[in-house]
Amino acid sequence: MGTVTSLDAHAHGTRHAPISPAILYFGSQVSLLSTVDEEGHPNLAPNSSVWWLGQTAMLGVAARSQTGRNLLANGEAVINLPSIAGVDAVDRLALTTGRSPVPDRKAAAGYRHVRDKFAEAGVRPIAAETVAPPRVAEFPVHLEGRVVTIHPMGGTATPAEASLLAVELGITRVHVVESLRMPGHANRIDPGRWRPLMMNFQRFFGLGDETMPSRLASIDEEWYRG
Ligand SMILES: Cc1cc2nc3c(=O)[nH]c(=O)nc-3n(C[C@H](O)[C@H](O)[C@H](O)COP(=O)(O)O)c2cc1C
Repeated sequence: MGTVTSLDAHAHGTRHAPISPAILYFGSQVSLLSTVDEEGHPNLAPNSSVWWLGQTAMLGVAARSQTGRNLLANGEAVINLPSIAGVDAVDRLALTTGRSPVPDRKAAAGYRHVRDKFAEAGVRPIAAETVAPPRVAEFPVHLEGRVVTIHPMGGTATPAEASLLAVELGITRVHVVESLRMPGHANRIDPGRWRPLMMNFQRFFGLGDETMPSRLASIDEEWYRG
């Protein structure tokens, strides 16, 4: 574990300035979301708006992306989590969309249409077990899930009117590679071995070292199942 530093005024200083960031990109976990369209054609798109509670993943997705359309149409997805080793595959899909033609605002920002996102990223699709979208074979964690509810963001009444969607995905199956499992436990992931990829204001980072023991860890992880 790293050295614990005291929370004193010298760490960051105490003079705060009011600013207006264009996006509140304070750091979150990166995934590739796989979905399928009405013809069953798979799409894959980088996402960094996911948080977890119980057996639910909440995703932030642009409604007019191909991913948003697919989720609205059939409600199935796989959240494919890379470790930091998967960063290149994620980056290859930046500035691409499964939509054709590319919407004007995206075209102006340099986006291009890519039909086969798996080939573009250099990864292989493998079948999921509970949903139609395929998994990314090379990534160490796959969470299959089905939409429970799609919440329109920004105060609009329906998802069709919203430009951003908060997608509540009920997780139906979790797959992890052997090397991430905690020895001696059937259902646990070893947090010392799992190195999620993070995006922090449009730049990629890994996690730093573990800082100090957590008091919450006195609770057996199985307690959360109830
Ligand atoms: C690392 C990374 C993280 C991203 N995070 C999100 C996100 O959380 N939500 C979102 O709607 N778009 C996000 N995007 C942008 C989408 O990937 C982009 O809109 C893409 O065109 C969607 O592809 P699609 O139209 O084929 O679904 C992210 C892009 C990158 C490269």
